[in-house]
Parts: sequence; structure tokens; C-alpha cells
Amino acid sequence: MWRSATQAFVLLHRSMSMSTALPPSPIPLLTSVASYRQWRQKAFDERKSVGFVPTMGALHDGHLSLVQKSLAENDLTVLSIFVNPAQFAPHEDLATYPRTLPRDLELLTAQQESLCRYFFRRSKTCIHQALARIFRHRRDAFVEMKGYGHQMEGASRPTFFRGVATVVTKLFNAVQPTNAYFGQKDIQQALLLRRLCKDLLFPHPEADHVHIVPTTRNPNDGLALSSRNAYLSVNERKFAPTLFKALQYAESAWSNGESKDRCVSGAVAVIDKVKTQAALDGVEVRLDYIEMNDSETFDVLDASSNTQLAGDIPVILSGALWVGKTRLIDNIVVGDLNRV
Ligand code: PAF
Repeated sequence: MWRSATQAFVLLHRSMSMSTALPPSPIPLLTSVASYRQWRQKAFDERKSVGFVPTMGALHDGHLSLVQKSLAENDLTVLSIFVNPAQFAPHEDLATYPRTLPRDLELLTAQQESLCRYFFRRSKTCIHQALARIFRHRRDAFVEMKGYGHQMEGASRPTFFRGVATVVTKLFNAVQPTNAYFGQKDIQQALLLRRLCKDLLFPHPEADHVHIVPTTRNPNDGLALSSRNAYLSVNERKFAPTLFKALQYAESAWSNGESKDRCVSGAVAVIDKVKTQAALDGVEVRLDYIEMNDSETFDVLDASSNTQLAGDIPVILSGALWVGKTRLIDNIVVGDLNRV
């Protein structure tokens, strides 16, 4: 529940392609860095903590669980919406990424106990422009996570983490949150951002104030909630939980002491079986990768590694699966993520 003393602020970053006027909202919408900074200074002066939930919009229950955690743990909460072009490769789905701002605002408003004063201000130096500029010219400062961004998701999406690290650095510098909240579904992103704050000595948030919130799943079949699930046809949706089932298989083999190689090959076999059934139903299921990685270095575990050899460092079991034209990702972490 939203605490009555808590105001939820939406810090809105207009998407590059969005030219329509913003819908009215009882939640304050801030679109300029200057107006935000004023608001933030007041919070600093009043010693109020600020929780931050960065998003690309198309909100679902997974995002709302982050908002709720932030509301419970902070005096004030900021949510940002910005579809970040820098994290999409040219062949990816930037143009079609769901943009559902009126519904996003409705979802946030519906949860609010006491509505805030409506606040909206336009400015020439809006955050959207400040964020978008570097992505048009491609010449300004970028943040790169050397040696970390090329495994797991980075192997399939080589420019993804540079785009995420850059925009989140800008967001953190603008928002200056006390705490930031990320979903476990994007585990590599969350751990990299924690690392970014640690390596570059971010004061807001400090690395151990970057929180990872468990993945929200469909209660019936375990599918991880994702804005991209909206792309799935009814037929494709039936096969979407396959990746989670394969990861669960690997998790149970791992806890039974099987080698990493056997865990991964067993998980791949789960997918191969469904692939054949899906093909009969006219749906293409195609594995991108399933792997087991060290959560500190993201290095792939040795083929013969097993739960005893891996020791105390949490292990990430993760994968990406194409269902039709939709790329789904998911993961299970074995061990305590707060150790990373
Ligand atoms: O997870 C997301 O929605 C995005 O990668 C993020 C963190 C908002 C950066 O654009």
C-alpha cells in the first residue's frame, strides 16, 4: 500500500517519437531537469529519502512491485519513463516497443492512497532533450562496463549495456536517489549497475543501495512479466513459459550435484521437446542461449563445475528464447544476491 505521507512522483522522460500532448494526471509529472533539481533540493534539505524506479514505461505488475518496495522504504518515490534508443541495436524493436503512457499513469494513480497535487511544467531544457542529445550525435560521453558487458545478454546484444549504463548514469545524476530498484528479470543489468556505482563511487545511490527485487511471474505458468510479452500472439503465449521451465530443470539438476554441462544440456533438451510441439502448432521456438555464470565476474562456469566446486558465490542460470519474433529472457539465481 502507498503510505499516506508518501508522494509518488513520475519524472517523465518523453520518448523521442512521442509528439502528442501529455495526458492529465493527478501524479506530479516533471519534465525538466531544473524543476526536478528544485524538488530534489527540497528533499535533501528536509532529509527525506528518495527511492527511484527507472523504467521504459509499458508498466506491468513487475514494475509496480518495484514502486511498492520503493514506497515502503523511502519518504518519496520517483519513477522515470524513457524509451532509451541507445540500448537498442539498429535491427531491434525500438520503433515497436510498447508506449502506453495514459495507461501507465492510470496504473500508478490507481494505487495511490492520497492523490498529489497535479503538477506539470514544460521547459525547453526538458530531460528528454538532455537524454536524447547524445544519442543523435553519437559523439558525447558514453559509459562502458569494460570486461562485463560481453557475456550472457552482452554476447547477443553487444551495445546493450553501454546504452543502459550511459542512460542510467544520466538518470542517477539527475535524480540523485537514496535507493534505486531494479527487477531480477534483468539480473545482469542490475548487477552491472550496482558495480557501476561501486567502481565510480556514486554517492546517489551508493552501490549497496541498488536493490534487486524478485521477478514477478504469472501465478499460473511462471512466465516472467515483461513489457515485451505484449508482442506474443495467443498461440505463442502458450509456449512462452518454456524458458522458465528449462531453467527450473537446470536449477534442480544443479542442486542434485550434477555438473554444469549436464544442467545446461538437460535444460536445452526441455526446450527442444517444446520446440517440436510448437512447430506443429505453427509457432517457431528458437533458443538464443542458456548458460550458468559466476555472478561476480559473469564468467561462464567450467563444464565440470558443480554446486560443491562453485562454493559460496551465487550462480546465475539464465537464458534467452525467441518465441516467434519475440525475444524473452529469464533467470534463476542460486545463492544470496546480496553477497555480490
Ligand atoms: O530495465 C529497463 O527498463 C531499462 O533497461 C532501464 C533500466 C530503464 C534503462 O533504460
